Amino acid sequence: MGEKARYQASLLAAWAQLQILYCFNLIAYYFRNTSPVHPHSFRKSFRMMQVVHKVKGYTAVFVPRLVALYKLSDEVNRLSLPGDFVECGVYNGGSAAIMASFCEKTEPKRNIWLFDSFEGLPKPTEADGYEAPPYEGWCHGDLEKVKRIFRKLSIPESRVHIVKGWFQDTFPTVEIPQIAILHIDADWYESVKLCLEKFYDCVQPGGYIVLDDYGDWQGCKIAADEFIKSRALDVKLIQVDYTGFYFRKPKK
Ligand SMILES: C[S@@+](CC[C@H](N)C(=O)[O-])C[C@H]1O[C@@H](n2cnc3c(N)ncnc32)[C@H](O)[C@@H]1O
Repeated sequence: MGEKARYQASLLAAWAQLQILYCFNLIAYYFRNTSPVHPHSFRKSFRMMQVVHKVKGYTAVFVPRLVALYKLSDEVNRLSLPGDFVECGVYNGGSAAIMASFCEKTEPKRNIWLFDSFEGLPKPTEADGYEAPPYEGWCHGDLEKVKRIFRKLSIPESRVHIVKGWFQDTFPTVEIPQIAILHIDADWYESVKLCLEKFYDCVQPGGYIVLDDYGDWQGCKIAADEFIKSRALDVKLIQVDYTGFYFRKPKK
């Protein structure tokens, strides 16, 4: 076997391993989410698996965090918590579509707000660490793909507000009075800080703030820790996987 063929075979093997890992992960979550004493749980878990599978190819977020987002969206609906869904850091729309798949499920129905430059990550700052600079411009999202995955999940356009541009320019142009889930997936210190400063106060007590990069990017962790400290928030950060964390906004 020539050098080129060996290289291609190793790429194929890596790809196959990733697919197998993905399938195992998804099936494991299906069974973890079911209970033999609650027959409905099998149907609900199947829907979860279907939605997570459909967004594959439209997201940089891996299964455990997509499942967590699905469950949090389900929970705020079950509790009839008022408010919209907000995602800062959309890329190709996969994780947003998970939340949006719940927009029509309760009364009053929710809207979903999507904020992204659709030009990739901005320049990081020192707070993001020495590993960050090569990622400038990474995750260049495509608006057409966002629209496609939303259509695939039959999410009505009237529920979706796409706000294209840099956060510092777009945030001052919007007011979202009530938020049920704030999903922050914007990697860098300055971006995460802007998201928390703009939207935290609109999150309803009992609503969720999801930090996709808390464990992975130091800038996200610093921004979130600084914010929690500055507001003296008594919150418990819940870990989803190596990077995803979330917390519930206190009731008082
Ligand atoms: C990791 S990606 C988001 C992944 C996405 N949630 C998914 O499902 O794959 C991070 C996104 O944040 C956006 N972003 C980060 N900082 C931003 C800023 N200050 N203004 C606008 N967009 C920003 C980037 O354009 C990029 O699309």
